Amino acid sequence: MQTSDGQARPVLLVTRRLPDAVEARAARAYDVRLNPNDTPQTARTLVERAAGADGILCCAADRLSAEVIGALPDTVRVLATFSVGTDHIDLAAARARGLLVTNTPGVLTDATADIALLLMLGAARRASEGESLVRAGAWTGWTPTQLMGTHLGGKRLGVFGMGRIGQAVARRARAFGMSVHYSNRSRLPADLEEGATFHADPEAMLAEIDVLTLHCPATPQTHHWLNAPRLARLPRGAIVVNTARGSVVEDEALIAALKSGHIAAAGLDVFENEPNLHTGYRGLPNTFLLPHLGSATVETRNAMGFKALDNLDAFFAGQEPPDRVV
Ligand code: DGY
Repeated sequence: MQTSDGQARPVLLVTRRLPDAVEARAARAYDVRLNPNDTPQTARTLVERAAGADGILCCAADRLSAEVIGALPDTVRVLATFSVGTDHIDLAAARARGLLVTNTPGVLTDATADIALLLMLGAARRASEGESLVRAGAWTGWTPTQLMGTHLGGKRLGVFGMGRIGQAVARRARAFGMSVHYSNRSRLPADLEEGATFHADPEAMLAEIDVLTLHCPATPQTHHWLNAPRLARLPRGAIVVNTARGSVVEDEALIAALKSGHIAAAGLDVFENEPNLHTGYRGLPNTFLLPHLGSATVETRNAMGFKALDNLDAFFAGQEPPDRVV
């Protein structure tokens, strides 16, 4: 397809349905292949739909394995993911093939931090149990001892991974009267630390906190990081929150700790093997579960889409994309 000035427009495969404003902008600049029915993509459909494409706008639900990347047509030179996380892309395979990859850092910080606080409150205040009672028509009225939870105020929050999102969660937690501990690859400067206690050794942090919130990327080093020995280091009655990636948690271990009461409650927005989460979570009353909604606000999803398009526009204009990962 050609633009009004006779220039050929790059062909862009958009793997999933995106917000209207993002698709409209993409359609103005590219010869777009959209997915109006939002059909999940298999390895086969991804490769088939990429035939003749110059670039791909993918998202966290797509699996860009080494096999898929290896099977993409040579015409595809850039992959812009509608996500900050890149664990769904085999970056080594992309690098080896000369496929440029970009992501969308920064724009989902506040939305994700808000969801972490929602999960923290939901877990601490037994929101799931309360909501189920009301929806089931089983609530028989107020009682002095019904569904008593625990305060966040006065509790110690442990942030594992103090990047942009971890820092935004810490700021919100302080407003709830929590003290903040964190563990990170490197200590933050004092102005970003804002009085938080740094633990060079995350194991040491676990024994000192009441609520653990995970904000690390999914890497081979963080795979199943929260396992049975580390859960055992948390004080009895601790709360676990995960808005990072499901693979950071060893599900069997967390479920056992939730059953025994060692972990009082968990607020989880992400799961290993989404959407097929470990079935053990569903039957537990002390879990507050969301379907990976961290960035799901209109403002944030638009900003993610525009950022992905900014990266693509720069690439096709022969410039360095601002958020190049590979
Ligand atoms: C991301 O951007 O990595 C999120 O998990 C998707 O909202």
